[in-house]
Amino acid sequence: MANSGISYRTMVLTLCLWLATFNLFLYKICGELHRFEQPTKGDGTLKFLVVGDWGRKGYYNQSHVAFQMGRIGKELEIDFVVSTGDNFYDNGLEREDDPSFVDSFTNIYTAKSLQKQWFSVLGNHDYRGDAVAQLSPFLTKIDSRWLCLRSFLVNAEIAELFFVDTTPFVNDYFTNPEDHKYDWRDVTPAKTYIANLLNDLESAFKESRAKWKIVVGHHTIRSVGHHGDTPELVQHLLPILRANNVDFYMNGHDHCLEHISDDKTPIQFLTSGAGSKAWRGDVKKLNEENLKFFYDGQGFMSVQMTQSDVEIEFYDVYGRVLHRWAASKGLHPVM
Ligand SMILES: *[C@@H]1O[C@H](CO)[C@@H](O)[C@H](O)[C@H]1NC(C)=O
Repeated sequence: MANSGISYRTMVLTLCLWLATFNLFLYKICGELHRFEQPTKGDGTLKFLVVGDWGRKGYYNQSHVAFQMGRIGKELEIDFVVSTGDNFYDNGLEREDDPSFVDSFTNIYTAKSLQKQWFSVLGNHDYRGDAVAQLSPFLTKIDSRWLCLRSFLVNAEIAELFFVDTTPFVNDYFTNPEDHKYDWRDVTPAKTYIANLLNDLESAFKESRAKWKIVVGHHTIRSVGHHGDTPELVQHLLPILRANNVDFYMNGHDHCLEHISDDKTPIQFLTSGAGSKAWRGDVKKLNEENLKFFYDGQGFMSVQMTQSDVEIEFYDVYGRVLHRWAASKGLHPVM
């Protein structure tokens, strides 16, 4: 009896140990980031628009930008829209049924071509309201296009998009919040939150088989605009992007359109944060070789890709192309 008791205990212990190891293994290969599958048209192309810093009930040219997005969206037959955050001004949404959601989103982006999936991240202004409300499925019930999570992955066949919650990286919001109140529920302690997020991202990069890797966050990594570079992202996020063959980092935060090339890798930094209020008027100096384009007014960006080619275009409030950039990549993955 005593003997079988011990062996029973040993068996349970072994099983527990095995389960723990297996879970760790599962965790290692899957990470914790939710992955969405985004089917494409099946013609070997992927096309989408990128807009940021927009929700102002149509004011500050938001409606004009929205109208041109509709026109270009139709021309390109886009698959989806990416929002780089600061979705609702001034202080995010107050609650799930805040009418700003309909006034600044549903009733503004009305074109038929924009009735596609929208993938959104949170910006610092969104954190000044009820940040959790913006992540709620309740909003998707109001407008089925809406999907906003803190950090998540989208597998769009040709490309994989890695959406990153950048606001908790920025120390100033914690140490020097001024008159603002941030909704840090589910995010603190920020140090642990960021460490886990970076780990999950790294696993997701390693696991990705997509031809193009696109990272989307609200804050800048490189910018000559009002806010400039975000030092915390340069320190913690950029090395991971460089080490994992990321092609693009797309962001908002600075209310402008800009394109800067990395000085060490093929990464292109693309700011599309001109969905409404713009014209800050201050530009920081940068090595001219790296700065490909800067525009301080309103507008948005389009991305068109195939397995081998990519084309980026920036548009102003009249839908005129301000900057175009194209690149190719061999059919075999770059090692
Ligand atoms: C709207 O866009 C036009 C054209 O770029 C610009 O001249 C005007 O200042 C903008 N209005 C606002 C409120 O930003």
